Amino acid sequence: ATGAITLDPGYKNSGSCKSDITFLDGEQGILRYRGYAIEDLAEKANFLEVSYLVIFGELPTAAQLEKFENDIRKYTLVNEEMKNIIDGFPKTAHPMGVLSSLTSALTAFNPKVVNVENEEEMYTAVCKTMGKFLVLATWTFRKTSGFPLNYYDNTKGYVENFLRLMFELPTGPYTINPVIVDALDKLFILHADHEQNCSTSTVRMVGSSHAGLFASISAGVSALWGPLHGGANQAVLEMLEEIQKDGGDAEKYLAKAKDKNDPFRLMGFGHRVYKNFDPRAKIIKKAADEVLATLGVNDPILNIAKQLEESALQDEYFKSRNLYPNVDFYSGIIYRALGIPTDMFTVLFAIGRLPGWIAQWKEMRVNKEPIGRPRQVYTGYALRSFKPMNER
Ligand code: SDX
Repeated sequence: ATGAITLDPGYKNSGSCKSDITFLDGEQGILRYRGYAIEDLAEKANFLEVSYLVIFGELPTAAQLEKFENDIRKYTLVNEEMKNIIDGFPKTAHPMGVLSSLTSALTAFNPKVVNVENEEEMYTAVCKTMGKFLVLATWTFRKTSGFPLNYYDNTKGYVENFLRLMFELPTGPYTINPVIVDALDKLFILHADHEQNCSTSTVRMVGSSHAGLFASISAGVSALWGPLHGGANQAVLEMLEEIQKDGGDAEKYLAKAKDKNDPFRLMGFGHRVYKNFDPRAKIIKKAADEVLATLGVNDPILNIAKQLEESALQDEYFKSRNLYPNVDFYSGIIYRALGIPTDMFTVLFAIGRLPGWIAQWKEMRVNKEPIGRPRQVYTGYALRSFKPMNER
């Protein structure tokens, strides 16, 4: 897409890599998975279809998609002993910390997934990860809410199962709202991959030592948790709630964000690569309007977000630094309208990003990339003579 690129001779996996999966252009605000525009995929495909594309490189035929969904269904049961692990966590544990631990623990119950030797074993590892991760992600919510843990229903779709796993109670069936399913499909698609971001680079780095897929994904979950990365969607909502509590004065918080002596940053704004609008933010902003209108939710937080965005986009400080809303700025508003608790927002980011993590780990292993070994610029002391204790 961008012509030949040259990697420095010291490239030998110094952390940068070649990849066929995702192309993004930060100046133009372009994002494509395997050559397909994110705008098309978000509007015309569903999340499992896009997961197949990201992982295997092509949009699936109807038969391929059905087989993929059925093969995932073979592995949606989680070993009952995993419940002993989740029971060890306090109810106050953050879901991302629980999810990272549970994902790593999957290796203990699926040792074969550590070193996949061939395409068939790789395919099985992919399906196991897609199936079990979704269940464990919802268990983190069920645990902190004191609800019994749910099981995947193989008669229902992937996103429908997410909703059931999260919200269905023994007291009666959970009614699937197609508007919510459609909104989640779109949101998961928008998060599916984003080339070498912090958490994906972590997954590739850990996997490059030939640590297994579950251990690598677990490390990715931990990296995503940080408020500068995936944790930003939770931080955005907490910021908007703070502004609302403080009288809704967006300008006051804009001023705080510009004040170098104030640690406050405008969460959901800025991006390491996008120096133009994050294309995902545009789609999510439109979806937020549609979902809240369809669900009849009138959330004043959305108005504060729009006011903040409008003021920031006209402000010299933000314009001169190319600071625009990113994927996390509006996603939390939709999650809140769908009844998702704030501390689960980043877990939903992880569910969406899972196919990207898997695809990037698979690409790194199939390409037999060497173990990651980033280089450094040494800025410490030159050689010094040892100083005995009485001279220190
Ligand atoms: C994600 O990489 C990916 O692709 C990530 C992601 C993905 O899909 O995987 O897109 C998902 O992580 C999106 C980003 C979510 N994080 C946030 O919304 C947190 C708030 N944003 C900032 O922390 C920051 O913008 C980063 C971390 C996102 C990007 O940081 P950079 O590129 O290192 O920018 P910087 O810290 O060098 O800042 C450049 C200037 C600085 O001012 P000066 O020193 O030049 O005076 O911009 C300022 C910063 O102070 N700045 C901000 C700001 N972000 C940068 N000022 C106020 N509010 C902000 N949000």
